[in-house]
Amino acid sequence: MAFTLDVTSMTAPVVPAGVGDAEWGALDERFRQAHASVAATAATGAYGYRELEAQRIERSRLVEFADRARGLHDDVVVLGIGGSSLGAMALRTALLPAAWNARSSEQRGGRPRLHVLDNVDPRTIAGVLSLVALPRTIFVVISKSGGTIETLAQYLVVRERLAQAGLAAERHLAFVTDRARGALRAIARRDGIPVFDVPANVGGRFSVLSPVGTLPAALCGVDVEALCAGAMAVRDATMDDDLAANAAGLFATLQWRAHTHAGQGLHVMMPYSDALRDLAPWFVQLWAESLGKRDADGRNVGPTPIASVGATDQHSQVQLFMEGPADKTVTFVRVDAAVDDVRIPRLEAGEPALAFLGGHSLGELLDVECRATARALARAGRPSMTMTVDAADAWHVGGLLMWLMQATTIAGALYRVNPLDQPGVELGKQLANAELGNPDHPAAAGDTGPGAQAVTERRVRFG
Ligand code: PA5
Repeated sequence: MAFTLDVTSMTAPVVPAGVGDAEWGALDERFRQAHASVAATAATGAYGYRELEAQRIERSRLVEFADRARGLHDDVVVLGIGGSSLGAMALRTALLPAAWNARSSEQRGGRPRLHVLDNVDPRTIAGVLSLVALPRTIFVVISKSGGTIETLAQYLVVRERLAQAGLAAERHLAFVTDRARGALRAIARRDGIPVFDVPANVGGRFSVLSPVGTLPAALCGVDVEALCAGAMAVRDATMDDDLAANAAGLFATLQWRAHTHAGQGLHVMMPYSDALRDLAPWFVQLWAESLGKRDADGRNVGPTPIASVGATDQHSQVQLFMEGPADKTVTFVRVDAAVDDVRIPRLEAGEPALAFLGGHSLGELLDVECRATARALARAGRPSMTMTVDAADAWHVGGLLMWLMQATTIAGALYRVNPLDQPGVELGKQLANAELGNPDHPAAAGDTGPGAQAVTERRVRFG
């Protein structure tokens, strides 16, 4: 049960713009400052995502709820968006067997399928609602604030469908929301809908290990205690203020350094594992929404994360990573032990293009391709690092998620931004609410930028 971070290909002379031997002292010092700043913020209780012991009672309650629900549902449908949906998707892909939703009930051990509606596109919502049998479905409505218009709109559509079908809301809905605030909390109280708490100090993109991620996972049979145990182990192993001993600090510091000292501000997250492929969009949101903002001096800062998956994107993005602008780092994520590995048969012995593959395995091929891509990037002078997990099980996945959340808080201190807020998305929300007639958002204060002035529209309609 272990994790490894290999940063060799972030160093010089492996890659020319990498960290030279003489630079480590300064980086170590900069990391120590960031670590001290994170520790000071942690002391105020701001980093609730780490306080998994404090969520133990709520976790037991949701596991009991999931156990009682066993056999009652064929489908779980998550309604949520952003940090309230990406975690459930990452856990589904990582910890449920491949093609979970296409399996029969027997193949799923009687556990339900899991759908995540992370948008308000009517095509998707109508499509999923036409697919599920409402009497055998539970809708998990997830919103920390309880006020996100996309999620509330999804909820209203579902609630009407349940009413039309004569189904009791309290049997087919469960809410995950702030302990005290927001419309969902009030509706739950009024209608007796089961509700699970997101602690006040846990924000959307840091909430995957709270009921936001664990309730949908537990309903499908994931061992959420193991998930959180792995996360707590990694949390404890990433508290050190010694850069060389802190894998979250090292990840954050080298990414920050690549951006600010070497012009490599595009950070590719590239798992070589289908189980971990939805880790990439989850990380993209975490890294982007936490770090892309104005820093303490009002400067616009932040890296641009990119989701990729190996080996698939070797045939899509890797050409760009190799020969496009030298403005990227690539983080490979690999799993040491391939589950259910498949042997490649020794067929076509007379055909050299195929014969050499016989006797290897698909897991081996994937891993060889990961290492080969890292070597090829290094030869082209392009930096990369490799995160390795021993297995893609609940314990390790919990650890991996915690590792990246810890890295994000440290990166926040390095970039000198608050990784927990998202002031930049507020104006858009306000404008949408105002246009739809939300009385709490009568006018969009601050809507004074170029987009607010009368302009000559330029558009082309064709076809
Ligand atoms: O990370 C975040 O804070 C956001 O992406 C939120 O998760 C997203 O806006 C949804 O918010 P809420 O959970 O309040 O509905």
